[in-house]
Amino acid sequence: MARTEPVYASFRAIGAYVPSKVLSNADLEKMVDTSDEWILKRTGISERRIAAEDEYTSDMATKASKIAIERAGLEISDIDLLVCATVTPDYFNMPATSCIISDKLGIKNVQAFDISAACSGFVYALSVAKAFIESGMKKNVLIVGAEKFSSIVDYTDRTTCILFGDGAGAAVISATNNQSEAFIDLHASADGSYADFLVTPAPGCVHPVSQKVIDEGLNFVQMKGNETFKLAVKTLTKDVKDILAKNEIASEDIPHFVPHQANYRIIKAVGDALKMKEEQVVLTVGKYGNTSAASIPMAINDIWESGRLKKGELMLLDTFGGGLTWASALLPFSGESK
Ligand SMILES: CC(C)(COP(=O)(O)OP(=O)(O)OC[C@H]1O[C@@H](n2cnc3c(N)ncnc32)[C@H](O)[C@@H]1OP(=O)(O)O)[C@@H](O)C(=O)NCCC(=O)NCCS
Repeated sequence: MARTEPVYASFRAIGAYVPSKVLSNADLEKMVDTSDEWILKRTGISERRIAAEDEYTSDMATKASKIAIERAGLEISDIDLLVCATVTPDYFNMPATSCIISDKLGIKNVQAFDISAACSGFVYALSVAKAFIESGMKKNVLIVGAEKFSSIVDYTDRTTCILFGDGAGAAVISATNNQSEAFIDLHASADGSYADFLVTPAPGCVHPVSQKVIDEGLNFVQMKGNETFKLAVKTLTKDVKDILAKNEIASEDIPHFVPHQANYRIIKAVGDALKMKEEQVVLTVGKYGNTSAASIPMAINDIWESGRLKKGELMLLDTFGGGLTWASALLPFSGESK
């Protein structure tokens, strides 16, 4: 592609993978002091998927990636950058999960690295793909959001174990000269002063693996649920209102609002604040729970597979997660319709 013409990033294909094992609210009733009624009412979640013991984040990511690359009509060798967003990597220090995915896909000699932005990871990865493509450095970027969240959940803690699930979603972001296919806008941000709202204390240099880590369960996710809930509603509402106003787009002109799937009540509050109709809001939280970085690409895949997402239609992505991090993006789907 000649560098004299402007180059834009376009969202070319989506794929996803969910593990076959279902963990229902009825199953959780047998594990902790909770009820199907409480979980449904407070979160909208009915069930979530759990990866097999020997099924890792990289395995789920590889399966989702193969689908996305095939739907993009590309060969593995066309991918020139691989970015994996995850907070449940195969290995906590090294190698990066993206390197393991590249090996499983058979991609040789390409730059591969991970992003740690919790539930905002996929939209953060989109921003990286956009920057690499628009600078002319890369042409076809594979971005993956993948989580084996069950590996850091304490299944005796009823305040967290009801929320999370496993899965993966992948997208191919490609260079184009066609401005109508370009991302319209993307905003990503963080505020570390809220770091203790959502944290997995170990392993890390603060708490290297020790008997204390095991005894105190510091390897499990800890969350200030109620505080996180309130901040999520406030931040997400402001973020989507800002991106729509900045780009002079009315909320009724968004066919697909794809929010991070953490809690139905958060999604409903933000959707209502934007005066979104039910059919505009993509909802998968009921069947997958919160899959962190995988949540948004899994949701996009859901509407693509059901034939709802057509070529050229606008998506508004909006997410929020540990860090705290948050991000939103406004972009057309530029791949083929199903
Ligand atoms: C976790 C969450 C569902 C809890 O709902 P909530 O309405 O805030 O509930 P609270 O935490 O105030 O707890 C209310 C009561 O329910 C109890 N409770 C908590 N989990 C429960 C469960 N699984 N089953 C039954 N009762 C439960 C609490 O112990 C508390 O009891 P108490 O009043 O006797 O102290 C909600 O806060 C939430 O979704 N937060 C955001 C989480 C999130 O999105 N995290 C990821 C961000 S990416």
